Amino acid sequence: MKKILITGGAGFIGSHVVRQFVCNYPNDHIYNLDALTYAGNLANLSDVEGLLNYTFIKADITDEAVINNLFEKYRFDAVLHLAAESHVDRSISDPFSFVKTNVLGTVILLQAFKNLWMGNWEGKRFYHISTDEVYGSLGETGFFTETTPYAPNSPYSASKASSDHFVRAYGETYGMPYVISNCSNNYGPNHFPEKLIPLCIHNILNNQPLPIYGNGKFIRDWLYVLDHAKAIDLVFHQGKNATTYNIGGSNEWTNIDLVKLLCQLMDQKLERAVGTSEKLITYTTDRPGHDLRYAIDARKINAELGWKPSVTFEEGLSQTIDWYMDNQAWLEQVTNGDYLRYYQDQYNTLLK
Ligand code: NAD
Ligand code: TYD
Repeated sequence: MKKILITGGAGFIGSHVVRQFVCNYPNDHIYNLDALTYAGNLANLSDVEGLLNYTFIKADITDEAVINNLFEKYRFDAVLHLAAESHVDRSISDPFSFVKTNVLGTVILLQAFKNLWMGNWEGKRFYHISTDEVYGSLGETGFFTETTPYAPNSPYSASKASSDHFVRAYGETYGMPYVISNCSNNYGPNHFPEKLIPLCIHNILNNQPLPIYGNGKFIRDWLYVLDHAKAIDLVFHQGKNATTYNIGGSNEWTNIDLVKLLCQLMDQKLERAVGTSEKLITYTTDRPGHDLRYAIDARKINAELGWKPSVTFEEGLSQTIDWYMDNQAWLEQVTNGDYLRYYQDQYNTLLK
């Protein structure tokens, strides 16, 4: 039985990764370590919390003494590191918390893993889950490959880039077996409604404005979160040591076209007259340092590990909307007082 630590498992992607591992590897024990910040929610894992190969640990990765004690107590064989501050807009107003969690927290985990296994690395692995935003912005053409130079533009992407470098440095300096993946924008169930897609779903359900930054022509490459969780499973079990894999949806959308599609799908599902939701679209002040375009070249993970996305965007988006419509209690719980304050600060308007 392997002891696998997953950090950030109560968050959006982490909860799908925890489920993927707990359900598919009953002979491994999965430890989910999460500080339960505003983005962490144990309700995301209510279906697996009673399983025998699952343990939740509430802890903060920036608390060095606590993390060292946990590594000594449980002697984890492997780490899948997802815990992070993850929202670009929050990184613009509060960069220090991104440095603390994403940089310092990652180094504390690396150091604890090194202290445990240095000189005895056989069968051990540190898997760092990162973002394509470390590569900066593309122009209208081209794709991010695993050798694209890092050029992060936001405090969020700079903190993730820094953490990627530390992981690689621990591999080079201490021989720590590691793997890194850099993924494009995810969407799907349990996504916190600060990000574009769940924010717009929530606002359409509540007849609230849909804030589009700048001219809405910014492009993202969207991947269904369950396909990301499957890719993470493959990279963890079959990925080559000291290697980076790019993961993406080959699915580029301008923000405005995406939000219009969302409006059309939701008008149908809510049985509203065609065009009702689109009237909620409101152009707002642009995000500072807004990256124009992200797009992943995923040929390496496809060729080496046989991974490709399994659902089309229309299918994934439709399933995502259905999930939010069926789980309005979840949505109401996470859009509480703190969220309303965040929303007012970020959008300069009250959410009714
Ligand atoms: P999220 O914000 O939904 O979840 C982050 C989780 O980390 C939460 O459960 C939170 O409680 C926990 N956490 C935060 N600070 C912590 C701390 N100090 N100690 C312990 N736990 C802490 O994020 P997500 O969207 O699920 O992203 C997960 C990872 O994947 C991140 O590393 C992110 O950079 C990366 N990623 C995200 C995307 C995306 O589109 N969301 C794309 C590529 C990569
Ligand atoms: P987001 O979901 O925050 O992901 P990221 O910034 O990590 O790519 O944003 C996706 C795109 O949508 C990005 O170009 C910014 C834009 N956006 C808006 O236009 N309005 C919004 O309210 C939000 C949150 C994002």
